[in-house]
Amino acid sequence: MGGGVDTAGRTAVSFLFLQTNNMKILIIGGGGREHAMAWKLRQSASVEKIWCAPGNGGISRDAECMPLNVGDVKTAADLAMKLGADLTIVGPELPLVQGIADEFARRGLAILGPPKTAAQLEGSKIFAKEFMARNGIPTAGVYGAFESTREACAKLDSVAWPVVVKADGLCAGKGVLVTSSASEAKEFIERLMEGDEFGAAGNRVLLEEGITGKELSYIILTDGTDFISLAPTRDHKRAFDNDEGPNTGGMGTYSTDGMLTRELEQQILEKIVRPTLAGLRKEKMEYRGFIFFGLMLTRDGAKVLEYNCRLGDPETQAILLRADFDFAAACMDAALARLAGASAKWFPGASICLVVASEGYPSGPVLGKLIGGLEEAEKVAHVAVFHAGTRREVNDYYTSGGRILGVAAGGDSLLEACRAAYDAASRIKIPGAHYRKDIGMTEFRQAKIAEVPANG
Ligand code: AMP
Ligand code: GLY
Repeated sequence: MGGGVDTAGRTAVSFLFLQTNNMKILIIGGGGREHAMAWKLRQSASVEKIWCAPGNGGISRDAECMPLNVGDVKTAADLAMKLGADLTIVGPELPLVQGIADEFARRGLAILGPPKTAAQLEGSKIFAKEFMARNGIPTAGVYGAFESTREACAKLDSVAWPVVVKADGLCAGKGVLVTSSASEAKEFIERLMEGDEFGAAGNRVLLEEGITGKELSYIILTDGTDFISLAPTRDHKRAFDNDEGPNTGGMGTYSTDGMLTRELEQQILEKIVRPTLAGLRKEKMEYRGFIFFGLMLTRDGAKVLEYNCRLGDPETQAILLRADFDFAAACMDAALARLAGASAKWFPGASICLVVASEGYPSGPVLGKLIGGLEEAEKVAHVAVFHAGTRREVNDYYTSGGRILGVAAGGDSLLEACRAAYDAASRIKIPGAHYRKDIGMTEFRQAKIAEVPANG
């Protein structure tokens, strides 16, 4: 490893992270989450070079982009070796579930991300459910895991409604249905298990109890023993305002002081986070990376809906805007298992990230549109525009994905952050594009801040 790792102890006054100088970092991925990571890493005095593979149009402003198929873990390791990266940080779940961390470990390369065994917490919902049962972690009740359509459909005769049908494997957010209709549940089970649409991910399905409450994304960075909690966030998964329309990868997030009471956060730490880490250790899974707890805050306390083995998208954009610490050093400390005694510092106030999506997203996004107004949007104070689905041609950007941009803003209050983000988003001109006008609005019930559509 290059870069002169400082292995001295953490000083008593420091809440920060150990410094490694002249770090060269490779980010795997190419969405808004990875753009936010590159943007934040660039602010670190200890970082000398950032690559992102494959990256995207906007990321090319903050990092050198390299071609890569993210599912190809051997080529990713070849690339890290060739570049001489001191650390590789993995954004998306696919390479983690395919064992990228194991491949890097075999070659002695530093990587931030869990091994394949632990990545099953996201890669198999049935594995995650069994892990939670073994380790006493609160979650929604289970009706069963099924390998046959007939048995899964027969079980519907004895469930309470609403029921939740989940494909076992990775489905990019499309493998879950919450429903009170038996015919809808049956149709979805047949689609998952019989059709080609979901491939092997739909070979097994889970039926679970539908629970209600506010959702919360609680993410930690851990070296398997010690951890730091990231600022909590709330995602908005449905495509349209008032939580209408189909599920998406996430249409917007916010983070604000006071989202969690001290009691509730203690409960999350004691009943969910620590038992999860203890369970991983007990089951011999060496976890170095991010654990994303998708929580439902129910009347009986917080319950885990899902685990992700990575940072969220668009949670990361809102989180890193509030991060008042050296993100590169924190990632290196977790990868090298030296997080003991560290804690993160957050800018007070709030942040928000609005996702600007293509016409037709999520079912059939229309791509290839010229993106106008980026410079105008970036002139708004406290705003950062993160690219998700864009490609660059000289100095112009074109849409290349369903989620195009994350317009993120910080502020002393959520209202201030919302005003800045909606002002910036209204300056962006993309034919047919849309974004939700109610991100963060559940926090303060009042009139919509913005009425200006993205296509102006
Ligand atoms: P998951 O991929 O498991 O997080 O599920 C996607 C979304 O489905 C969640 O963000 C929730 O909105 C919803 N969901 C999942 N599990 C449940 C459940 N047991 N009860 C109610 N809603 C759920
Ligand atoms: N925004 C939810 C996720 O990243 O899975």
